[in-house]
Formats: sequence, structure tokens, C-alpha cells
Amino acid sequence: MIELIKVSKTYPPDVTALTDISVTIGRGEMFFLIGMSGAGKTTLLKLLCSMETPTNGLIEVTGKPIHKLKGTALARLRQKIGVAYQDFKLLTDRTAAENIAISMEVSYKKPQIIRKRVVDLLEQLDLSDKHNTITGELSRGEQQRVTLARAVANSPALILVDEPTGNLDATTTERVMKLLNKCNSSGATIVIATHDDSIYRDTTHRVMELRKGRIHAVNGGMNA
Ligand SMILES: Nc1ncnc2c1ncn2[C@@H]1O[C@H](COP(=O)(O)OP(=O)(O)OP(=O)(O)O)[C@@H](O)[C@H]1O
Ligand SMILES: [Mg+2]
Repeated sequence: MIELIKVSKTYPPDVTALTDISVTIGRGEMFFLIGMSGAGKTTLLKLLCSMETPTNGLIEVTGKPIHKLKGTALARLRQKIGVAYQDFKLLTDRTAAENIAISMEVSYKKPQIIRKRVVDLLEQLDLSDKHNTITGELSRGEQQRVTLARAVANSPALILVDEPTGNLDATTTERVMKLLNKCNSSGATIVIATHDDSIYRDTTHRVMELRKGRIHAVNGGMNA
């Protein structure tokens, strides 16, 4: 699903965010990306959805060099990627339901299918009572969950989530992980950047640690 070969990223003029990252993430994998603040986690996720371009190296997503795609080819690939941003990027003057519906509307899903999916996701994330609330009026933890719901709503093949549980209590964190595990069981490849060791401590999935933009360690995997 994802192949990075010797990827580096320098933000102008001279902030080195990533150096020499090579990693392959298989279709259907759940993959944790950890490391201290500033280690490069968000930068790596941004490269995977082409929000940033690498300074050096090759990035393939579903076999396509995403950093070289433009126009409709890039738009088509992006439709297969759901992203939950660390800073949310919600439309704050629209309701929770409208924000979640967006990704499905652009792919021309039927209105009644969209409505059902929105209600279902809000229920899974314990936000049913916020359906019609504009997201600007939600707490950070609530906004974070709407962001996640929007990312997974259209059942994308690849889901990128940046700090999905940063503002959440233990019970709500469990709900979020339950939803992500469900998406993963349905076949989605998921990359999760996180500081929250409660969500990867006991995992059987791979955990890659970045330190100062370099791969420090990759642990775990199915038979670890
Ligand atoms: N747009 C930008 N312009 C310049 N430097 C940036 C930019 N975005 C990130 N950086 C720098 O790149 C490095 C990696 O940042 P990144 O946001 O990827 O870290 P992170 O691991 O996600 O951190 P956190 O855990 O705090 O979210 C940091 O030194 C940061 O200051
Ligand atoms: Mg980050």
C-alpha cells in the first residue's frame, strides 16, 4: 500500500524534518508512528497524502508515485485516502453531520446512505447529540472525533490519523480505537501518529519510532 525509499524532507530554508526514511507498509496493515514532539510524525503523514512534497526520495501509495501526480490523477488517488489532521481542519461554521458527510458527497453517495452512515459514526463515537451542532461550538475532544469520523466515512483504502486521542479520556479513547480497528478489519490500511502509549502498548501491529526525523526503531508485527 505504501512504499517509501530514502525519503527526506527539509522545510525551507533549513529545517530538516525527515532524513532517509525507508519503510514498506502492507495493504491492510495497522501501523503506529511514534516519537517525541518534533520528531517528524506529522510531516511523514503529510507526505503520504501529498500535502507536502519530499525533498528527496520516492513515495508510492497503491503503486503510484504520489509526489509526482497532479490534477485528476492526484485527485483520484486522494479519494482513496482519509486523513484526520492533528489540527482538525473542520469547517467550523458547519454542523458535525455536514462535516462528516463531505467526503461521501464528493463521491456521489446517495443522500439516504450518507445520512445513515453519519448517524452510525456519531453513535459509535458517542456524539449522537451533536449531530446538528456547528463544530466551532464543540470541545476539542469532540472536534477530534468529528475529524476522525470524516476521515473514515467514505471507507477509504488508506486512513491516516494524526494524534486521534490527544484530547480524550480513556473510555472515549477506547471508542476511537474500536472504530479504527473495525475499519482495519474491513480491510483499510491505517497509519496512526501518536504520543499516547495506551493505544499501542499492547498492540500486535508494527510500531515505528522516529527520533529527530530518522527511524530509530521498528518493533512488533504479526508474530512479534
Ligand atoms: N510547515 C513547516 N515549516 C517549517 N518547519 C516545519 C513545518 N512543519 C513542521 N516543521 C518542523 O519539522 C519538524 C517535524 O515536525 P512535525 O510536525 O512533523 O513533528 P511531529 O512529530 O508531528 O510533532 P508533534 O508530536 O508535536 O505533533 C519540527 O522541527 C518542526 O518544527
Ligand atoms: Mg504532529
